[in-house]
Amino acid sequence: MRGILGLVLRKFDIMRNFIFCLVTVFTTALAQAMISRSAVEFQGSASERIEKAVSAAQSQGLRHVKIPEKDPLSEDGVWRIDRAIVVPSGISLILESCTIELKDGVEDDIIRNASFDKAGSVDKAFEVLGVKSKKSVLRGGLRAINVRNAEDFIISNLEIHNPRLNPIAVDKTKNGKLSNMLIGTCDSNALSPCILVHKENDSAQIEFISAYAKGGVLKDESSGAKTRGILNFNDRIDGEDVVMPPLVPTPRKVVRTSGAFLAPSAYVTRDWIVFERDASMKAESYRLSVKPTGVKVVAPDRRGELNAIATLRQLGEEKSRYRNCDFYTGGDIGRPLVLPCCEIEDYPEYPWRAMLIDEGRHFFGKETVKHVLKQMAAHKFNVLHWHLTEDQGWRIEIDAYPELVKRGSVRPCSPVHFACGDEMNTDTYGPFYYTKNDIREILAFAETLGIEVVPEIEFPGHIRAALAAYPEYSCTGEKLTRVPRCTWGVENDVLCVGNEEALKFVEKILDEVVELFPGKIIHIGGDECPTVRWKSCPKCRAKAKSLGIKVEKLQGYVTQRFGAYLAQKGKVIIGWDEILDCDIPKSAMVMSWRGRKGGLKAAKEGRYFVMCPSSHTYFNRTDGNPEDPFAPRNNHQDISLKKVYDFDPAHGLDEESRKYLLGSQACFWSEAIWNRYDLDWRMWPRSCAIAEVLWSGKNKKDFSEFVSGLKKHRLRLISQGVNVAPIYVKKASLP
Ligand code: ACM
Ligand code: ZN
Repeated sequence: MRGILGLVLRKFDIMRNFIFCLVTVFTTALAQAMISRSAVEFQGSASERIEKAVSAAQSQGLRHVKIPEKDPLSEDGVWRIDRAIVVPSGISLILESCTIELKDGVEDDIIRNASFDKAGSVDKAFEVLGVKSKKSVLRGGLRAINVRNAEDFIISNLEIHNPRLNPIAVDKTKNGKLSNMLIGTCDSNALSPCILVHKENDSAQIEFISAYAKGGVLKDESSGAKTRGILNFNDRIDGEDVVMPPLVPTPRKVVRTSGAFLAPSAYVTRDWIVFERDASMKAESYRLSVKPTGVKVVAPDRRGELNAIATLRQLGEEKSRYRNCDFYTGGDIGRPLVLPCCEIEDYPEYPWRAMLIDEGRHFFGKETVKHVLKQMAAHKFNVLHWHLTEDQGWRIEIDAYPELVKRGSVRPCSPVHFACGDEMNTDTYGPFYYTKNDIREILAFAETLGIEVVPEIEFPGHIRAALAAYPEYSCTGEKLTRVPRCTWGVENDVLCVGNEEALKFVEKILDEVVELFPGKIIHIGGDECPTVRWKSCPKCRAKAKSLGIKVEKLQGYVTQRFGAYLAQKGKVIIGWDEILDCDIPKSAMVMSWRGRKGGLKAAKEGRYFVMCPSSHTYFNRTDGNPEDPFAPRNNHQDISLKKVYDFDPAHGLDEESRKYLLGSQACFWSEAIWNRYDLDWRMWPRSCAIAEVLWSGKNKKDFSEFVSGLKKHRLRLISQGVNVAPIYVKKASLP
């Protein structure tokens, strides 16, 4: 890592003298003991089982537990089941003789790619759900599916993410078929999922179902899972023949050695890893050794250790597959991790491996940011570029200017979801913003993951939400309406840079930003700043005249001024490549987004830069899947998985220029990204490809090998509650 940024990103090196943790070597016996612990079972008579299951559910905080009116176990037949807790709170989708019932919505459950092939019922179901076609994705709030009293039905290609405690119940059906089902959960309260197949569907077939669950499975203990029609997917770990799972991004060198390490816990903890520091290694690198007797990590810094831990988490998921839902808290009940023995040496290609999230157009909130940060760390990204201010919304609390969030975080109208401006709604959007405490919490969380957060506070353009709160700092003054911009696009009303008070306003905002964010780098925006207002503003014209420059070059003046202001406070600025159009401070760094030209120019000027051309890194654009149900109507050019994988940030740079290239980032502009699910959908799996570019570099695999590993990796992400888009690869992309 080089130069200023090297200093910044290596701040964790102060931890170098940190203690070398000693391992506790746990015996195989302990691990074996944990392996033999089984899923939660509720024993006794039918009514006792129900009672126990209900009280277990309640003790885990489930609010509504409904006991079936009639005990299903009293019915005749072989396929009876214990369904003590199958009726959840929230939504159920009941597909019953062509009727469908949808109860209160729950935001965070997703069912998608569902096709119910019973003529009549299917269309009706989708009509009620507001879904346009059978191929559509159902989103938000479906908690359980019950197919009842149906004949000749087929449910296929169904993916359920986060089904929580709910199973699919197939009840009193004939000639049914379930195929290609994928069920994931990531909720420590989950008591299922499982598939419940009831009596009378003797001819029902279940083909390929991969389910992964944590928590117990309601299981009729007297007869064993399958004979009673309950498929229990939790009994498969034996600690032998451990397969090397796909590791994303690909480490530089992996050698599989014999045997497995049975970890003494259900998820990776520092307790059973021996850490050693070696200052001679590359920044953020690590050497990892997994042996039957223990695990050792050698790294030069804390980030290297965290990267090794990220690898260990992926290593542990093959045999304990899809159960260790949360990388960071584990929570799996009673399963130790099983790690294949191996020796790994690894280091990153680039020091800047970032993601940009835009909170201005749509606001995501603390939990989503943490969710993103966790997945970033899991894929060895190390910088969150946090775009906090925009024309459409001001999202950061500033004590000196309370109106910024009071007025600037609420807009009275927006383009409708996916419409991108051609159709508007008049729903109030906001107030949505982060308090200082929210930000501190997020920064502390990012710090634990080794992620640097770079805030972006935009000026002189893209500042319309701030001007809604303080119109006196625009060129047009009080004539400005006091609401943020409702539509997308570029705004003509910008900061009045001829007004000294407006500049002081920005400086005071920056004072608070500097106080809040400990990192060295502040992003000052700088893109898309029209000069039309400046040209007709007496103050701006006078300012340009006094500086002896054209009005168009006033942006250089503010970049110089705020760059110097922040430098005094020990910060370095980075801005979009438009800032290169003026004379700017030597230390200012650049993000090349309008193609590669900005990067090339920055390098020639001897300044550090991030290569993130919109053509390759703006993942708000779709991946080219023609069946993408969330594609915005005016999607720009697609960015396919293959295009990302083939992206070379250093392309066209000579050796000297290459020295200034910091790396790249996946950018998520949020005009058509409304919430966490949209964000996940755009982010994954393409971010796996850019992780390969940024971490594995030239060492990355061939594309078809990458895609085949990605299939398993995608299931892993789904099990962690990530709304991953399907892997879309055009046939021509694969040999
Ligand atoms: C940008 O996309 N306007 C930086
Ligand atoms: Zn002005």
